Amino acid sequence: MDRFVLVTKKLSKRFPGVQALKDIDMEIRGGEIHSLVGANGAGKSTFAKIISGVYKDYEGEIFINGEKVVLDTPQKSFQYGISVVYQEVDSALIHYFTVAENLLMSSVTQYGSFVSQKKLVKIAKEKLKSLGLKLPFDLNTRVSELSVSQKQLLLIFKSLIHNSRLIIFDEPTSSLGPVEVEQLFEIIHSLKERGIAVLYISHRMPEIFTISDKITVFRDGRKIGTFPRDEVTPDDIIRYMIGKSSQKIEISSKEMSNTPILEIHRKSDESQKLVLYKGEVLGLTGLVGAGKTELLKEIYTGSKDLKVALDGKEVRIKTSTDAVKMGIYFLPEERRKEGLLIKENLIWNMLLPSFGDFANALGFMKDKEAAQVSKRFAEKLRVKFADLRQRVESLSGGNQQKLIIARWLIKNELKGARVILFDEPTVGIDVGAKEEIYNIVRTVAESGIGVIFSSSDIDEVLKVADRIVVMRDNKFIAEIERKDFSEEKILSLAAGRHEIVKN
Ligand SMILES: Nc1ncnc2c1ncn2[C@@H]1O[C@H](COP(=O)(O)OP(=O)(O)OP(=O)(O)O)[C@@H](O)[C@H]1O
Ligand SMILES: [Mg+2]
Repeated sequence: MDRFVLVTKKLSKRFPGVQALKDIDMEIRGGEIHSLVGANGAGKSTFAKIISGVYKDYEGEIFINGEKVVLDTPQKSFQYGISVVYQEVDSALIHYFTVAENLLMSSVTQYGSFVSQKKLVKIAKEKLKSLGLKLPFDLNTRVSELSVSQKQLLLIFKSLIHNSRLIIFDEPTSSLGPVEVEQLFEIIHSLKERGIAVLYISHRMPEIFTISDKITVFRDGRKIGTFPRDEVTPDDIIRYMIGKSSQKIEISSKEMSNTPILEIHRKSDESQKLVLYKGEVLGLTGLVGAGKTELLKEIYTGSKDLKVALDGKEVRIKTSTDAVKMGIYFLPEERRKEGLLIKENLIWNMLLPSFGDFANALGFMKDKEAAQVSKRFAEKLRVKFADLRQRVESLSGGNQQKLIIARWLIKNELKGARVILFDEPTVGIDVGAKEEIYNIVRTVAESGIGVIFSSSDIDEVLKVADRIVVMRDNKFIAEIERKDFSEEKILSLAAGRHEIVKN
């Protein structure tokens, strides 16, 4: 297997105002798991998109199995055996089609346009069998009924059916929990055994060090180097990524205040209650689907089943507007869907809930002040941008996320919050900026408000929280103080491998 599946020479790509990639030389072998890392905006997705035929106007050369190719359409890349599993798996599948239809999609026409579902299932089964693959769900299921990780699996199997040589994963685990990540890794290992090359893009350092044979680092559109996994440490990689050592936060158990700021009781189940104290960062964790997002949404948009008290007084929240008025802010998980205005500029996106504070007596925006605040927060969160007035659709994924975090931090600075609910705040955000966000979250809490930090990434909850509540099947199942934190314990609680533990 000493052949290079993919070689690029001096690969470059410019967007208006930014050189996204410059002179990238890459070599990826079959049977190799090759990670690609870099800060937000470093050019990772741009590289993946060029290789998958999305951009026609790249410069430089691409070789597949030694043959020089021009990858100017996604179809062409697919024919050369390149497939991509994007984070937004949804866009790559047709929801109202069945699993079998999606699996055979690009070849459906080859079987005639009126093939029965039964026949498709039969063909799909045979194809899977001949490759030694077995899908853990029914081929007749509609894609809309699958979970994110099942959809990913479907995409991976689809690429295998179509003879993939190189599979690119662009942040595949950002909506997966620890158990699903384990499953994905098993699959990636079996791809490796089949001699397939894997390009793995991620911000999760522990994952990168678990899975990679080699690690390539990009910084500001350039390649810093490719390193065998065993010859570098995570600290080295972070230094190459951001050009300096990362400043880690050290948190020790602190004397917690015992003034509750937010109290929640579930009316339908007396045993279900949660108290958030003043100045506290409460980590809320559990597997994907454990009910964390639902709970936060219930708090923020109101629920008949929840009794909520703020500063000791019962409050009635009916809509998110009520919540914001009371000083309860919420950073949603699905930021691209629920919060971002991608056709608008950075200032708009950061100041959306704060416009009132930037209007003069006549209702016109105070442009200069608005720009100043936006700039300060964009820099604080290390957003990589060319112009505050560019549309946010031209920012990289992670940089888009940061704007929504900035939005609520700005609102908090202008009109002090009582409680901030963060739902998966660091998904897609690079290591350097993550540490920055942990610091900000800690500082914000210390100013006397309450923070719920919800995340399926147990490592980061252990880092940032004063106390952790574990959820499973829509219920709080354990509450752990900082001095008793243990990754193993939390993981087994979350996965249901333990009996319920009350401390
Ligand atoms: N469609 C576009 N128009 C203009 N600029 C773009 C476009 N897509 C990406 N860019 C710019 O190219 C640079 C590289 O972006 P890219 O999406 O490749 O980063 P990334 O490494 O994938 O980052 P992240 O970790 O945040 O996903 C960024 O400066 C980004 O703003
Ligand atoms: Mg990206």
